[in-house]
Amino acid sequence: MSAQREVVPETMPTLASRTDAAYLDFVEGFREYLLGAGANFEARLNAALESAGVQDLEDIRRYVHAQPLGQLRDRLSRTQQEMKWHALRRSFDLQRKELAAELAAWDARGPGRLVLDPAFVPPPYVNVHFHLQPGGYYKDELSGFLYHYGTKVFFRGGNDRDELHGKLVSLVPPPSDGRVARVLDMACSVGQSTTAFKKRYPAAEVTGIDYSAPMLRVAHRRAAMLGEDVTFAQTLIERTGFPDAHFDITFAFIVFHELPLRIIHETVREAARVTRKGGLFAVFDFTSTADKSPFQRYHRWFDARHNGEPYSQDFCDCDLRSILESNGFTVAGTPLDERSGGAGYMTHWFATRV
Ligand SMILES: C[S@@+](CC[C@H](N)C(=O)[O-])C[C@H]1O[C@@H](n2cnc3c(N)ncnc32)[C@H](O)[C@@H]1O
Repeated sequence: MSAQREVVPETMPTLASRTDAAYLDFVEGFREYLLGAGANFEARLNAALESAGVQDLEDIRRYVHAQPLGQLRDRLSRTQQEMKWHALRRSFDLQRKELAAELAAWDARGPGRLVLDPAFVPPPYVNVHFHLQPGGYYKDELSGFLYHYGTKVFFRGGNDRDELHGKLVSLVPPPSDGRVARVLDMACSVGQSTTAFKKRYPAAEVTGIDYSAPMLRVAHRRAAMLGEDVTFAQTLIERTGFPDAHFDITFAFIVFHELPLRIIHETVREAARVTRKGGLFAVFDFTSTADKSPFQRYHRWFDARHNGEPYSQDFCDCDLRSILESNGFTVAGTPLDERSGGAGYMTHWFATRV
């Protein structure tokens, strides 16, 4: 029997030239080198921290900053991020008019629907250049394209065809009664998990929400190119506007660490409101501080301070399980899960609405 390869249309934006693509390829390899066995920074610094017996975050920072290895690692980490955004923005600027026209051409095309709110005003806490992305998530009409290509580099090619999103969606257990008629993807960005849910539950009504119009426009274009009939709507995840008990599955992938603590509480409350009894709220995000190695704790501090993640430390310090439980969910374990895509950096909470 011959294995049939699934043909997936290319939804990644193209760069202005092959030179730009080659440069971004280099940055992807550079990142692989920094994070992987090449530079081996994590293992080497962890070993040094453990043998020095340093535990307190302040001491960990002082120790890493005093090591040439730590100084090198920090500089290279920041530099690869700056190289990526600089090259991407330059390449997209060169074809800005064409890319804007390309988005406009897809806005009204199907399948699927794009519902933007022209009166939407972003709340002040989202005014952050997350991961140093120029313009943050919403200030550039091409923010969605920048983000999508940026995550290609971030995932080092491992998500070019939505492989990670497909895997995470496949890990989400259906509610115990098996009923999945409506799915909500909270903070869907360019909609990779939204389309993965539609593939998994073709008969379900699947909706992705995000406050960023440029993200949603790219999400809609991608879904329409893939032939998936899903809806993308511009709204806040902490105030969605959906009726009570509307969804069988509510899903949130790596957004909680980008919310101030107050908004985390509001979002869990909103998820409890819109998820029906027996339905599932699945959250994938960073591991808690208590589960982190000394180097991972240092990395979290570095990311917060030097990589546009100002709220992430509070998220890692909070007890999401208790927040879920005090809002009407039962949580089936919070396993440290390498399969969640982060090799010890990510975990998940599968919370059933009671
Ligand atoms: C790191 S991305 C989330 C990743 C996304 N789930 C994915 O699979 O690519 C952060 C996204 O969350 C959105 N976002 C952040 N806070 C939000 C909020 N309060 N309401 C709606 N969207 C939000 C941002 O616009 C951005 O698209």
